Order: sequence, then structure tokens, then C-alpha cells
Amino acid sequence: MIYMLDTANLAAIERGVDLYPLAGVTTNPSIIAKENRPMRSILMDIREIIGTSRMLHAQVMGDTAEVMHQEAKLLHKFDNELIIKVPVTPQGIKAMQMIAADGIRITATAILTPQQALMAAVAGAEFLAPYINRLDNICSNGVQVASDIVKLIENYQLDAKVLAASFKNVQQVHEAIMSGIQSITIVPEVFDQLLVHPLTDSGVAGFVSDWEGVYGQGKTVLDVF
Ligand code: G3P
Repeated sequence: MIYMLDTANLAAIERGVDLYPLAGVTTNPSIIAKENRPMRSILMDIREIIGTSRMLHAQVMGDTAEVMHQEAKLLHKFDNELIIKVPVTPQGIKAMQMIAADGIRITATAILTPQQALMAAVAGAEFLAPYINRLDNICSNGVQVASDIVKLIENYQLDAKVLAASFKNVQQVHEAIMSGIQSITIVPEVFDQLLVHPLTDSGVAGFVSDWEGVYGQGKTVLDVF
């Protein structure tokens, strides 16, 4: 599983990179705008934290393919490891073909149907980002859409990966992962919840209590081995 953190919050990214096996960070225009400072500085700061071995995804905003293509080239010039997010509109699909022809990596975003994902993959997108919670919110089935995209990738042997996005709870994450997706991006609050269980906490507390009863408070294996 390729895990990514869906945020531009530097403290959350620092913490995430420190704790978790993160392969990268994803942003979108809303996430960038939330930081309320220049996009260039935000991306530079994130890159400094995550290094060049992890992925960083940033989205274009133009409403024509030509403008999106120019934006992608500008972003790529600024950081040639950047993966460019492009929405699956008709102009976006046109832009993907232009951007892919330049050899720039693409994440197709704002995917709500399997057919949008299929066309994006054929147009050159490497990652396909279906919005799970936004589908669930309209009484659709986000995991089913992700699962259908997984099947399309297999059936057509596409060189693309599902990057499931938009999660509000652990059950959505679990069901998406069980559907066979290759990668996932999760907001920090939900990411932390993936490890939460009261029996884990009480189990660890029991180990500490038993151990300290014999070897002393605060002692680790380093002290007593
Ligand atoms: O980054 C795209 C996606 O994760 C959006 O999530 O929570 O705004 O639906 P959300």
C-alpha cells in the first residue's frame, strides 16, 4: 500500500513523516488555500520536510487545457519531481495528454465515476483519484467506484494506480483498501485513527505494569538485557 498524507499543514506533515511510512503528500486548491500564503512557499516548505524521495502532488487551476499545460510546465520547472493533479473535465483530459507528452507525471483528480478514471488513464495519468467520501455523501458508493477502477486497470492492463482520496473515517479507508486500490491519501486526523484501539492501549499498559514490577520503572530492554 502506498500511503500519502492529504494536507499542506507543515506541522502535520512533519509529524506524519516522522511516524508513518509515508510515500508522499497530496494537496489540492482548497488545501493550499487553507494555508493562506503563497503556493510556491507552501510547496517549497513541504518539499524540504519530505525530501525528494517522497512524492508531492499539486493541482493546476486553469479552465482550458492550454492554461493547465502552462501551469504544469511552470510547476515542473519549479520542482521537477512534482506530480501534477488535473481534474477529469474535458479540458483536463486534453491537458493530461499534453502534459504526459512532456514526460510530466500526472494524477487525475475529482474522479466520481469509473469512466472518468479510465479515460484519464488512457490520456496518460499515472494516479487516478476517486473521491470516496464525496460519493458516499450523495448516497453513491465510493468504494464500489474505486473497486471498478481497479478492475478497469487490470482488464486493460493500464499503467495506472488508484489513489483513493476523500476519507472521513477508518471504515471507508478499510473498505477502499480491501477493494484492491494501490494507493491512498488520507487527512492527518483520519490517518491517526487507523492505529487507535482501546485494547491496544490497555495491552501496552499491561506489558508496562508487568515489566516494571520486576525490572523497575522506566527500564527498557537496553537497561536490563
Ligand atoms: O485531495 C482530494 C480529496 O482528498 C478531497 O477530499 O475531504 O475534500 O472530500 P475532501
